[in-house]
Order: sequence, then C-alpha cells, then structure tokens
Amino acid sequence: MERALVADLRKHVGQTVTIQGWLYNSRSSGKLAFLIVRDGTGTVQCVLEKTDANAEMFAMAEKLSQESSLEVDGEVRADERAEGGVEMTAKAVRLVHASEGYPITPKPHGVDFLFRNRHLWFRSKRQWMILRVRATIIDEIRSFFNRNGYILIDTPIFAPSAGEGSQTLFKVDYFGEEVYLAQTGQLYLESACMAHRKVYCFGPTFRAEKSKTRRHLTEFWMVEPEIAYCQLDDVINVAEDLVCSLAQRVLRDHRTELEALGRDISKLEAIKKPFYRITYSEAAEILRGPRTRELLDSDMVRATARKAELEKMIAEKEKEAAGQGVKKWKAEKLAAEVIDHREELSEVETEIDNIPKHKQLSANFDWGGDLGGSDETLIARLHDRPVFVTHYPRDCKAFYMRRHDADPRLVQNFDLLAPEGYGEVIGGSQREERLDVLVHRMQEEGLKQEDYEWYLDLRRYGSVPHGGFGLGVERTVRWLCGLQHIRETIPYPRLMGRFYP
Ligand code: 4AD
Ligand code: MG
Repeated sequence: MERALVADLRKHVGQTVTIQGWLYNSRSSGKLAFLIVRDGTGTVQCVLEKTDANAEMFAMAEKLSQESSLEVDGEVRADERAEGGVEMTAKAVRLVHASEGYPITPKPHGVDFLFRNRHLWFRSKRQWMILRVRATIIDEIRSFFNRNGYILIDTPIFAPSAGEGSQTLFKVDYFGEEVYLAQTGQLYLESACMAHRKVYCFGPTFRAEKSKTRRHLTEFWMVEPEIAYCQLDDVINVAEDLVCSLAQRVLRDHRTELEALGRDISKLEAIKKPFYRITYSEAAEILRGPRTRELLDSDMVRATARKAELEKMIAEKEKEAAGQGVKKWKAEKLAAEVIDHREELSEVETEIDNIPKHKQLSANFDWGGDLGGSDETLIARLHDRPVFVTHYPRDCKAFYMRRHDADPRLVQNFDLLAPEGYGEVIGGSQREERLDVLVHRMQEEGLKQEDYEWYLDLRRYGSVPHGGFGLGVERTVRWLCGLQHIRETIPYPRLMGRFYP
C-alpha cells in the first residue's frame, strides 16, 4: 500500500494509504475509536469502526496510550470541518511501539516541567508550530541575502577578543589560553566586505546575560550583513526591506499556525514600509512626556483588575476541587487550571511591582544612557509599525560605531524596535572608518590596541565608509509569532540557570 504524509493527504482523497506516526490523542465510543495521529507533517483524525472481524485490533487501538508509535491504513475522506480538510477511515492499525506513561498529557503543565521535558515537549502542537515558523524565517533570511547579491561568510566562534563589550563574554580554555565564544561575527565581516563588497554571516552567538528576561538568551542566532561603500541610511533601508520580507513570508506560509498561536494577523499585515524613524533624543522626549505616563497608568489599572480576577478564580477553583464528591478528572482539571492562573498571577504581580519603577525611570530618563528594556517596550508600544531609533550617544554604544560629523556626542547607529512592546530586534550602524578616530575611541574604552591590529589594518589599506546590522532570530520569531517569552522560540533554550536537556 502506498505510504503518504499527513500534509499531502488532500491529494489522496478517495485512496487508501498508510500513514506512519504517533498517537497524539484518542477517545472511543465503544463502537468507534477516534485516533488523532501526528506524523511530523501534520495531524489527522483516523476513525476505526468495531466490526466482528476486527475485534482484537479494535481493542488494541482503543487502549493505545499517548505517543505510542503506530501505522494506520485507511481511506482518505474529504471533510471540510477537519483540520487540513481530511479524515481517514481506518482499515488497519498496527502498533510500532507502545509508549508508557508519557509525561506531557493534554492537561496544562508548569513551565519548568515542560522545559525539563523539552525533548518531548517538541511534539506538542504549539511548540511544533513555533519551530516551523522559525525554520521559515531562517529560510527567508538566507534567501533574502542570497537573492540580493550577498556572499555568505562564516565567521569564527572562538574569538580572541570582545566584539560587543566585555561584560557578557563566555571564557573558554583554548589549550591553556583564554579565548571567548563569539558575541558577534561583525568585526570579521568588516574584513570580508572589503573583499566581497556585500556579505553576511549567520550563526550562533553567545552572551553571558546574567539577568532573566523575556528577551535574552545566552545562546542565540544572529544574521549580520555588512556592506562596503555604504552609509547609515543605506543600512537602514536594507533592514527595512529584510523585515518586510520576513513578515510577508510568514503571512504567506503560516497563516494557519499564526492564527492557532493567537497572533493578531492585522498587526503583521501592518508591517509595511516606511517604518518610523526617530532619533534617540526624540525617544528620550517621548519617555519623559505625557503619552508614556498615560500608558503606564492604564497598565496599572488593567494589571490591578486582572490580579483581583485571578485571585478570585484561584480561590473558587480550589474550593470547588476540594468539595465533596468531585470527580477525579474534574479535580485534576481544576488543579491544572490553578497552576496556570498562579503562573499568570505571579507575572501580573511582578508587573504591578515594576510599573512604578518604569514610571520613575522613564520620567527621569537622562540623556546619555542606553535605552533599557522597559524604555524600548514603551517606545515600541506607542507606535503601530516598527521604529528605527537612530543617533545614540556614543558613550553608551560600541566602540566601532562611526562618530557623527555634526554632533560628536552621537554615533551613526540605529536600533529597530518592534511594535506592541516586543522591543529591539535589530542593532546596526555605520562603522568608524577613520583610523585616528577609531584608535582614540578604543583607548577611551580601555581596549588593548594590539588585540585589534588586524581590525585596524582595514582602516590602513583602502578604508571606505561601510556598515551593517545584526538581526536576532529568536527576537524576530517571538515578535512575529506573538509570544510572551523568547524561550519558546529556539529548540533548546539556554538561559542563566537553564541548560538541561
Ligand atoms: O545589538 P547587538 O548587540 O548588535 C551586534 O551584535 C552588532 N555586532 C550587530 C552588527 O551591527 N553587525 O545585537 C544584535 C541583535 C539584537 O538587536 C537582538 O535582536 C539580538 O541580536 N540579541 C539577542 N537576542 C537574544 N538574546 C540576547 N541575549 C541577545 N542579544 C542581542
Ligand atoms: Mg543592541
């Protein structure tokens, strides 16, 4: 019999095929067994009817436990109500391997439990969808640069010196010498753009981020283009085009997944050129101004109301679960819901604690410091399309950024902030191409010139204006999928205190 993938079943309507997969969920009426089977490409419901001839097989199918691997022969039927538009009338069900006591059941679990079982959690629908969107985003990133004439340059992961500040370096013992895991490929790419003009690198990068946030990982993937003969505006235009392509592509290929993830599609459709462009100084004004205050006040009202609501639901459900004669399944369901409510409650309580701090921080925002996570969130929430924030004070930014000609306090850089509060997804700049200015800036930063001689050579032999940026894959996946937390955007998230499995 012909084997088929669930994703292709629409092409097999009326035919009898074999699918090979795992049991996602099931129920039985005694006469009919409904088996939800996933095969890695999709899920389909297989309905097996009990007959005199198949009693034994029916009994086996009815008792199959979650995540048992199995093969089903069946006829494919069109059914517009079904997910994927098809169902299967099962003729035979064969067990490949019986799974016993699969730990992740359809009821809700706590986040820590799920991450300790990440190797299995992958199989759950939501995680499956997110990682598929991630794969598409990565594919679109590569094709964007490939079709626009960029040459892929793989930059090293063992790096002898810091690329993005010494605070977040991971040290590695390299045969008795100290090297670091790469925080960026940029410095190497700068050398490559002088050879190939338009280049990009795409790989894992590492930062010892000591805070636990919704947007930081210690290991994340970054794509970085670098272009010779180019100025800040040119770089910004490339970033804008890339982000538009990514939004278009996920809308084209993943509407179903995005809807299932609860993403507001209209927000993605709004990702169109031109994005907003404001300067750092304008951003500082916004933070100190009335719109920011009003936004935080309304947050406080919303969070306080939600806190009361959650506390009420928790109390009611705990009371109900403890009541006389409550069925076991019902008590379990209530207990699971209480776990969820408690998780949300602790987040809402943190928010309530933080709002006054954010209010104070933004109201007293001092010109000169970098925008913090909460500042970025506020700016981003006050815009309905992505915002480029340009021209930061040089003291809060990396040593390689080009000093502004008219105002030497500033650099020619930008961050791209995603709307709805997702914050920075891209950081980029024009690079300092003047040897003396660069050397001076490195001295201010206390960087050892001898570690960077090779980098300074690029300013000695045919230096030209050039620039580029870095886009964080996981931040982009989080934004486009509309996820609360960055940890679900990568197969095996690495955070402070989390590296298993
Ligand atoms: O702004 P960053 O630090 O810029 C650079 O690394 C430059 N060398 C890029 C360049 O100009 N070639 O990082 C770039 C992006 C951020 O905007 C963010 O999306 C992501 O990388 N990123 C992180 N993502 C997850 N976890 C972290 N700890 C991240 N740090 C940066
Ligand atoms: Mg940055």
